[in-house]
Amino acid sequence: IPLNINIPSVELPVAKTIVLGFSQLGSESAWRAANTNSIKAAALEAGITLIMKNAQQSQQNQVEAIRSFIESKVDVIAIAPVVQTGWDDILEEAKQAGIPVIILDRAVNVKDHSLYVTCIGSDFFEEGVKAAKYMLDKMRNYSGRIKIAELQGTIGSTPSIDRGRGFRKMIKGQNTFDITLTQSADFTMAGGYKVMREFLSLPNDKWPKVLFSHNDDMAIGAVKAIEEAGLKPGTDIIIISVDGTRRAFEQMIAGNINAVVECNPLLGPLLMQATQEIMSGRTLPKRMVPPEDIFPQELAAMEVGNRTY
Ligand code: AHR
Repeated sequence: IPLNINIPSVELPVAKTIVLGFSQLGSESAWRAANTNSIKAAALEAGITLIMKNAQQSQQNQVEAIRSFIESKVDVIAIAPVVQTGWDDILEEAKQAGIPVIILDRAVNVKDHSLYVTCIGSDFFEEGVKAAKYMLDKMRNYSGRIKIAELQGTIGSTPSIDRGRGFRKMIKGQNTFDITLTQSADFTMAGGYKVMREFLSLPNDKWPKVLFSHNDDMAIGAVKAIEEAGLKPGTDIIIISVDGTRRAFEQMIAGNINAVVECNPLLGPLLMQATQEIMSGRTLPKRMVPPEDIFPQELAAMEVGNRTY
């Protein structure tokens, strides 16, 4: 017998999917590829709709991407800024539109810190300090003046500025250590190869004893240039790099790189967590730094299997 029960219809609220607009600065390095993949995977896992735009190293492209996110009324905007300065106006536009902004990986230099909610990324200054500490220890029994070559990253970017500052702070007052060659190779392998070739085309009394490379890609490019010049990387020129990619670990095992300072690109889960917390009205710390280490070549063989990027 059919029961004639009148069930009142209840309007259940439909959970709205969070939309995150993310301006990625480019695809210059293995670190960047790992960072992009981590963000895509974490968004999928968290059920967040991700609209990602690759700015191909152009701040102007980033500004346009952010403006398009504002126009399409995304819930949260995240930016991995290619350089430190020049963000005040576009962040003010986001603020006026009521869209919270998360700064990821690199930092921004703005007058008004309320223009962004939080900055998630590495302590690049500390990375420079760690690189220099390793060098000072490694070279402690070396007598005579030690010429250092530096491969900088993108000019005006936080990692390049701060790694350089941290490194210099540690060698200040150490008069046997001298940065005699320094040039940007834009965080790319091709750039590292090209600039190192230029350094080694100088008369050999100008050749460095140490290379401090602001990332692994440039260091790997430099290894090739050093080999082509008939020198043994890691022995004739001590090489210290930053990032901790699997390829750099393989180069350490081969004896070509002496130490790598870790810089963690796997920021996707933290970014998604921060996005969800902002949407639920929670307050976040202004700065979030992932834990990071330094790996000398002696640990590379043991550690290489654990590298996920
Ligand atoms: O901002 C992080 C840096 O950018 C990484 O060290 C480098 O590999 C990347 O290009």
